[in-house]
Amino acid sequence: MEKTWLVIHALVFSCVCAPAPIQSLEERCDRILRNMEASLTARDRVGIQDFVLLDAYTSESAFLDNLRKRFHENLIYTYIGTLLVSVNPYKELDIYSKKQMDTYMGVNFFELPPHIYALADNVFRTMQSEYSNHFILISGESGAGKTEASKKILQFYAVSCPRTRLLNNVRDRLLLSNPVLEAFGNAKTLKNNNSSRFGKYMDIQFDHQGGAVGGHILSYLLEKSRVVHQNHGERNFHIFYQLVEGGEDELLRWLGLERNCKNYRYLVQGSCAKVSSINDKSDWRTVRKALSVIDFSESETEQLFGIIASVLHLGNLEFAADAQGYATLNNNQQLHWVSKLLGIPNKVLQTGLTHRKIEAKTEEVLSPFSVDHAVYARDALAKAIYGRTFNWLVSKINESLANMDSSRKTVIGLLDIYGFEVFNVNSFEQFCINYCNEKLQQLFIQLTLKSEQEEYEMEGIEWEPVPYFNNKIICDLVEEKFKGIISFLDEECLRPGDATDLTFLQKMEEKIAGHPHFVTHKLADQKMRKTLERGDFRLLHYAGEVTYCVVGFLDKNNDLLYRNGKEVMQQSKNAIIKHCFPADEPDSKKRPETVVTQFKNSLVGLTEILTSKEPWYVRCIKPNEAKQPGQFDDVLVRHQVKYLGLMEHLRVRRAGFAYRRKYELFLQRYKALCPDTWPNWKGTAAEGVRCLIKHLGYKPDEYKMGRTKIFIRHPRTLFATEDAFQVCKHKLATSIQAKYKGYRVKEEFLKQREAATRIENCWRGLMAKRERERRAWAVKVIKKFIKGFMTRNQPACVDNSEYLAYVRQSYLTRLNKHLPKTVLQKDAWLTPPPIMKEASWLLQKIYVRYMVRKYIRGITPQRKLQLQLKLQTSSMFKGKKENYPISVCRPFVDTRITLEDINTKILQMIHHEHIKYSVPVVKYDRNGFRPRFRQLIFTQEAAYLVEETKIKQRIDYTSLRGVSVSSLSDNFLILHVTCDDSKQKGDLVLQCEHLFEALTKLSVIADKQNCIKVAQDSVRFDIQPGREGFIDFKSGQESMVYRAKNGHLMVESTRAKSR
Ligand SMILES: Nc1ncnc2c1ncn2[C@@H]1O[C@H](COP(=O)(O)OP(=O)(O)O)[C@@H](O)[C@H]1O
Ligand SMILES: [Mg+2]
Repeated sequence: MEKTWLVIHALVFSCVCAPAPIQSLEERCDRILRNMEASLTARDRVGIQDFVLLDAYTSESAFLDNLRKRFHENLIYTYIGTLLVSVNPYKELDIYSKKQMDTYMGVNFFELPPHIYALADNVFRTMQSEYSNHFILISGESGAGKTEASKKILQFYAVSCPRTRLLNNVRDRLLLSNPVLEAFGNAKTLKNNNSSRFGKYMDIQFDHQGGAVGGHILSYLLEKSRVVHQNHGERNFHIFYQLVEGGEDELLRWLGLERNCKNYRYLVQGSCAKVSSINDKSDWRTVRKALSVIDFSESETEQLFGIIASVLHLGNLEFAADAQGYATLNNNQQLHWVSKLLGIPNKVLQTGLTHRKIEAKTEEVLSPFSVDHAVYARDALAKAIYGRTFNWLVSKINESLANMDSSRKTVIGLLDIYGFEVFNVNSFEQFCINYCNEKLQQLFIQLTLKSEQEEYEMEGIEWEPVPYFNNKIICDLVEEKFKGIISFLDEECLRPGDATDLTFLQKMEEKIAGHPHFVTHKLADQKMRKTLERGDFRLLHYAGEVTYCVVGFLDKNNDLLYRNGKEVMQQSKNAIIKHCFPADEPDSKKRPETVVTQFKNSLVGLTEILTSKEPWYVRCIKPNEAKQPGQFDDVLVRHQVKYLGLMEHLRVRRAGFAYRRKYELFLQRYKALCPDTWPNWKGTAAEGVRCLIKHLGYKPDEYKMGRTKIFIRHPRTLFATEDAFQVCKHKLATSIQAKYKGYRVKEEFLKQREAATRIENCWRGLMAKRERERRAWAVKVIKKFIKGFMTRNQPACVDNSEYLAYVRQSYLTRLNKHLPKTVLQKDAWLTPPPIMKEASWLLQKIYVRYMVRKYIRGITPQRKLQLQLKLQTSSMFKGKKENYPISVCRPFVDTRITLEDINTKILQMIHHEHIKYSVPVVKYDRNGFRPRFRQLIFTQEAAYLVEETKIKQRIDYTSLRGVSVSSLSDNFLILHVTCDDSKQKGDLVLQCEHLFEALTKLSVIADKQNCIKVAQDSVRFDIQPGREGFIDFKSGQESMVYRAKNGHLMVESTRAKSR
């Protein structure tokens, strides 16, 4: 049972937390259980960390026991649900390190031991996920640890928020505004060595990414009277001591101050200028540094300290009485410093401090002060200067924290206001402070106990009401119009006549006698009267009885500064004072609102600010009055537990429903979990929720349906729903993301397509334009070409010049590509157009010459010789003998018979004549025409017909008459010789394979070119002198040589085929 409770309880927190990283429900429950079990074993020692788990949850003693146990274990934090109870340890605990902050960052509330960081983190994450505004109300009596708690929260945000250079800047300012405000607004009191003497509400603004981007501070009613007066054991505001103790020598000299607090009247009235726990020197350094970070210029800082110093000098001003008893200023040294530091002429200041202006009928006259009056006016001036400078300081800090970006911000407000306080003598300030606490308590009651219970009633939920003390009665006693203490006080302040503090007391006694929370000496019964002075009145506050002494109430409420004083200040050259006492300030004849009314109104404003945000609470408890660590004063703590309403809060928490939401909101958040309600529900929200929870399987005892809201009893139910939602959310997010991505991609695609089409169009247009231009150009060119063509034969003119140039160029280009490769390709010359005829002819000539030259240069001497021989042959036979063409391509050789093949005998015989050429021949007998193989040898001198070893015939070239060949394709040659002598042999009839070669050689060697004759049909020859023979030539089917019937040698040859 206990265990189940633990889990349930643990889950309570998660429902108010922002969703944690996804884990399965079992996993989380398991982890929680393990954590809780661990804490269970330690429970006897350290108590439980959440009062909701307390068995005897209605027992104050059990409550106290748990608090004490934990306190002694240095566990100063305990939860009541999401409310944090904090007990001041009065000693440094190692629980505020960076490591601790990291531990608490982003972790679910219930998963770690209670801590102020857990609360801060939870508020932050809720703000982030719900995009809503929040405030943390830190309450408790003076010295309970409120200011410390607010600093811890601020420090946590400073570390946990996302960082950028800009944000760091804001963060530093937010952090450093604290020591500055504390220096000027905090003081040592009997209750607290660092008691806030002003109320502070600070907004921290976050952008949508959770970065701290700005801040704003509202300050409430500074206890100005402290500037001029301190009770025994108390101090003035820290800054005075810091300046005197820590101020640099040069600065002090410039300010005319001495380094001794005892020298200043305003610093010694409490007789405790030095406090061991306060290090004014180091605090001074912190403040100096902070001022520079939050945009205070050097001159502003100087002026600020000038003001602080001038207040101290003012305090030391001594008035003496002159003969008439009027105040005079003897102490000119102090006056001199005030005059210098505030930049007000000495004389003006002096008059201002010793006189006041009185309006006579038509003019203003100066009336001198009595000494007492002068002291009073001096103190009033000191208070006014300090009070207004403090307000200037706050507005200056606000300027430096201001965020200029107009985008929407979410806000976490931190309210650290002076705590309920009771001194031996309580004055106007305590009255205001305690009234303020009364109001905040009322707000707390309203937001928690009252509203919660009223809600059940309104929604028609069965509910057993938890009784609680509603402090409305006290608030009304103080503030009700016409019937409240404030009204009476104001009335007394404003009415004409001799109103005094005592008349104020009498008025109250008259009007509110019998009120259960109000008593005075006169109204009290015998017993109580002993505890009351005559000038006292006592209020039974929610937090206890406080006896107020009426002395000074009217004065402080009026807060009068003589008009004269104001006018003097308006002449100041000090920029801050100038700003604080503007020349156009409403005429002092018109009464400003009294202090208490201003304060009341500012509290109304504060309540409005707070009620528009979601509340979170830190309730601070003071364990003892002695500010001692380890001391737990049961009575004191029990009293605080009681008046802070913690027991009632716990009872409501335990009995109530963990969660409620308007049907619309619940449906809106979870509708995705049921197919019937997703994406839109058509009916009423309540029906939708009914359908949804039916689908989710809620059991009847797990929830209640109110009139406008669903109430869920156990957090686990909601937790499971939230978990399912988290899972579902991711799926939804994925599908939305996919859709969106698709949409974006499609959009992008369409854009690209459109762009492509546009580019295409442009490109096409461009191409078409180019094409058109090209065609137009082509048409022009063609036209010109045609015209040129048509006029090509006319003399060069505009019309044909281009055409002709083209013709010329194209002919030359073509010609270049088709030039003949050899000299012999004479016909290969490209036919020129008419206009190029001459040029072509010239070119051809040049080219042929060029080729010839090239050819000639390329041939060897042997080849040249050969060609010369061939030329010779050509001149002899070309066109004359039929088989000549066949011979052209057959190269000539030096000889057809080498010397080795000639018989040596023969060689011996003719060698001296130099053998030039030899060739085998067939010799036909002159008689009978028998063929015989012979060698024909040409020497330098003669031709020899040789048969082996015998020279058959020698023909001296001189006796060679001629040579005959036929015009046909046979190889016959007839050498005609001169026959002078009948012994001599006749002409030689030979057949030679190399006819042309042999004859050419012969013609050259014997120089017989002209002797060679080409006969047509028949050759006559001499068989022997005087006896002739004939050889007939004809063409036939076959080559044949035979003796014809007519006795002629018939040579038939086939027709030579052309090459
Ligand atoms: N969490 C804490 N840890 C250590 N000391 C603390 C803590 N809270 C308060 N104190 C001590 O108590 C003193 C009074 O606390 P403070 O916050 O100024 O009280 P309050 O603002 O409620 O009047 C502090 O100066 C400090 O010495
Ligand atoms: Mg404080």
